[in-house]
Amino acid sequence: MKNKSAFIIICFAAVFLFNGKKYEEAVSERLSTSVAVCLEGQSCGAASIVMTSNGSAAARSADQVYAVGCAACHDAGVAGAPMKGNVKQWESRIAKGIDVLVNNAWKGIGGMPAKGLCADCSMEEIEAAVNYMISSS
Ligand code: HEC
Repeated sequence: MKNKSAFIIICFAAVFLFNGKKYEEAVSERLSTSVAVCLEGQSCGAASIVMTSNGSAAARSADQVYAVGCAACHDAGVAGAPMKGNVKQWESRIAKGIDVLVNNAWKGIGGMPAKGLCADCSMEEIEAAVNYMISSS
């Protein structure tokens, strides 16, 4: 009788250990799935999408977008681009309405490539850059 209960205890222990190991394996499998998340403020290497801690893509500020994607042409008026700060060159364009300007900047117009040099810009970022250019005119 004594031996029998010892055997039962050993069986329980074996089942428990076996399950314990399986559980550990399952957890480590789940943990080993590599997910690369690049948080705001960290160096992301080649990744171009920066995530904020709340998970949404961070919009660049208007002057950042302008500097990276628009200044190359709009600072000096390359290829007939209306220059930032040049009221005369912007007057007739502003008269078309902001929506038309943003749409043309998004799709490209004449010598201007779609989204300028900011291929990964969102519509909101392009709109901010257009407003930035206009408000400085
Ligand atoms: C490669 C040069 C180049 C770059 C880069 C560039 N533009 Fe332009 N942009 C032009 C040229 C040229 C025009 C004039 C096009 C025309 O009217 O024929 C223009 C015109 C515009 C206009 C006026 C559109 C209209 O309907 O009259 C807006 C707004 C504009 N650009 C916004 C932007 C923004 C915002 C950026 C950056 C995200 C940008 N551009 C980058 C060359 C450029």
